[in-house]
Amino acid sequence: MVRAYGGPEQVVTGLCPDPVPGAQDILLRICASPVTAGDRRIRAGDFPRGMGVAARLVLGWRGPRRPILGNAFCAEIAAVGPGVTQFRPGQRVIGQSGMRMGAHADYLCLPERAALAPMPATLTEAEAASLPFGGTTALHFLRDRAALWPGARLLVLGAAGMVGGMAVQIGRILGAEVTGAARPRSLTHVADLEAEALAMEALAQTGRRWDVILDTTGAAPAALWPLLAPGGRMALLAAGLPEMVQSLTRRAVLTGTAPERAADLAQLAAWAEAGLLRPPVAACLPLERAAEAHARHEAGGLHGAVVLRCG
Ligand SMILES: NC(=O)c1ccc[n+]([C@@H]2O[C@H](COP(=O)([O-])OP(=O)(O)OC[C@H]3O[C@@H](n4cnc5c(N)ncnc54)[C@H](OP(=O)(O)O)[C@@H]3O)[C@@H](O)[C@H]2O)c1
Repeated sequence: MVRAYGGPEQVVTGLCPDPVPGAQDILLRICASPVTAGDRRIRAGDFPRGMGVAARLVLGWRGPRRPILGNAFCAEIAAVGPGVTQFRPGQRVIGQSGMRMGAHADYLCLPERAALAPMPATLTEAEAASLPFGGTTALHFLRDRAALWPGARLLVLGAAGMVGGMAVQIGRILGAEVTGAARPRSLTHVADLEAEALAMEALAQTGRRWDVILDTTGAAPAALWPLLAPGGRMALLAAGLPEMVQSLTRRAVLTGTAPERAADLAQLAAWAEAGLLRPPVAACLPLERAAEAHARHEAGGLHGAVVLRCG
């Protein structure tokens, strides 16, 4: 848990009372949960440009109001309330807990209507836990916002990251020709995801343009315009306030927050079961080593998720 915004050393483990499910609730025994960019942002109090005050008003001024971080997970259902109809104890699920967070724990209680779907049988627990965060984000921006079409030229910036790795694979599933851009140290990993791999610095010199650009780095949004084909769309996932304002007047710019929906998780699970989608996992650590997991995420250079083993 995290009581005050700061570095990985702010992450401590402790004992909390196990949650008790209400009538419409599900008690989940968390098997695995990744440390995501969202967890890192909340732990560090590092919010997109111009969003600091609003984020702190919502999430907590000096530290997170909800000290147990963790949004995405793979879990076993431990118990259900008497009003729950769609799930039963013993089922394995993947899911997201929205603003409640709380998945970096042994147990988590969520309402039945939360974003939950059966765990894909083809994935390990760590892989399954790594599917929702990057998967629902990539799905939302590529399929729903950019309306990616078969044959479209897709450029994913930050292709070695959690969202980027999913975007490369989902772009291919949707029929696009996918280019993944990353730092030189990550190009082999991007090529292993079966995308054309290019160094970020080399993009401008290619003279090429792409129909859809998905930027997970937030590095230099203005530099993306020469890379965008006429009529193209660019999804800025790490957008600050200036880009959000720009998206109100420029149709090409897509910003906002990806929703968490059970139907999207079911789609991702179906693709995983069909052998089309597999989230890369860089490391698995026990929950007691959560601070170390945050430090590894902070250091960057990861080729996949850092996953905490819980429960
Ligand atoms: N809008 C939404 O709904 C939404 C949803 C999910 C995530 N996000 C945001 O999307 C961003 C990415 O999330 P993520 O989970 O994919 O994070 P991640 O796993 O940390 O991946 C980020 C990737 O971008 C690379 N990168 C960062 N800066 C770069 C630069 N200047 N040049 C080249 N590569 C660079 C990183 O490489 P290194 O590790 O080598 O630095 C890493 O591979 C975060 O800001 C997150 O908050 C937004």
